[in-house]
Amino acid sequence: MDIRLMNVKRQHEAHAAEYEEAALRVLRSGCYIGGEEVSAFESEFAAYEGAKYGVSCGNGTDALILALRALGIGAGDEVITVAWTFCSTAESIAVVGAKPVFVDVSPESLCIDPELVERAVTPKTKALLPVHLYGQSCDMTALRDICRRHGLKLVADCAQAAGTSFGGERRGILGDISCFSFFPTKNLGCAGDGGMILTDDEVLAGACRSLKVHGSGASGLGFLRREYEKRGEKIPENMPDGTSKYYNYLIGYNSRLDAVQAAILRKKLNYINDFVEARRANAAYYGEALRGTGYTLPKESAGSRHSYYIYALKHKNAGKIMAKLAEAGIQSGIYYPVPLHLQGAFAFLGYRHGDLPVTEELARTTFAVPVYPELSEAEKEFVVKILREADGE
Ligand SMILES: Cc1ncc(COP(=O)(O)O)c(C=O)c1O
Repeated sequence: MDIRLMNVKRQHEAHAAEYEEAALRVLRSGCYIGGEEVSAFESEFAAYEGAKYGVSCGNGTDALILALRALGIGAGDEVITVAWTFCSTAESIAVVGAKPVFVDVSPESLCIDPELVERAVTPKTKALLPVHLYGQSCDMTALRDICRRHGLKLVADCAQAAGTSFGGERRGILGDISCFSFFPTKNLGCAGDGGMILTDDEVLAGACRSLKVHGSGASGLGFLRREYEKRGEKIPENMPDGTSKYYNYLIGYNSRLDAVQAAILRKKLNYINDFVEARRANAAYYGEALRGTGYTLPKESAGSRHSYYIYALKHKNAGKIMAKLAEAGIQSGIYYPVPLHLQGAFAFLGYRHGDLPVTEELARTTFAVPVYPELSEAEKEFVVKILREADGE
């Protein structure tokens, strides 16, 4: 067998003609940056997830950076997040000049532990940046409550959670501002890089819209005016006032979703519920077939409707089991082998081994097996067979 952990080729093949026709249409249109495909996808994805505004951008990392910048977060500010995530989550905080403050995750949900968040809040804390890890929703009720009581902003890292619900609705996973990735392997993946910011706040949406195109446009000027007002200063008179793309008001970025990707994503959005349901069905199959074994299985936490971007098992012999799977031609992976507080890039923060015991234990004992929507029955059965054999050894 050759069963890959993720298989985007199969996803493409399932509706290849539609995706290829969409891409070809854009190629022949001559409209490659911005335009109808991009704005239509922004509205359609925002409507799907239940937000008022969608601002597309180059990737999920940029979505986080733009969101933090739009909130005015920077030097001297602290943002509470997790170390049990992909590096972009905390990288974005550091990139805007703020300090990531890591707290541990709950061993059941694998998402941020709200009790620990409460204890980590200081007068410098400006925002929480929880991650809906593997497609499991965080406890958004508890997190919103903490934000309300401490006057913090909630930035949701939804990169792994397109199609996830909390409290019975997809909008339940959203924060004041929410960031999605359309990396090819994601629940909704494009044929390259892509990302989106969702919010109900017109001002935040406007700020992101300006920042993603070098700080230009009317909303860039509005943002700049507010910055001066906040500091109690008068805005200089000697600068342009208008919407030309060559009038730059903020130090921004070049971060755009291109039209080819938007056209493909619009087609894939029609199937996202099927993708998520197939992932859930695969997870349910594994759950049933591995019951009573030595594996700790993923569990949906209260209120969360998991989308199973990743299906991770926990076992004391994780390393040996992964080797067994590899021998049998089944790819598995650790998400993530080095938690962020122990990464060289974050060494400057001064964390030590033992600071986040749950996270560190997860890094030693969890591993992901294939759960993508197009897995065949025979492949799932084979994965279970090898897992059961490896458990017994
Ligand atoms: C939790 C998390 N946050 C952020 C990102 C960043 O997304 P991208 O790779 O599109 O920059 C990813 C994806 O890789 C992710 O898994």
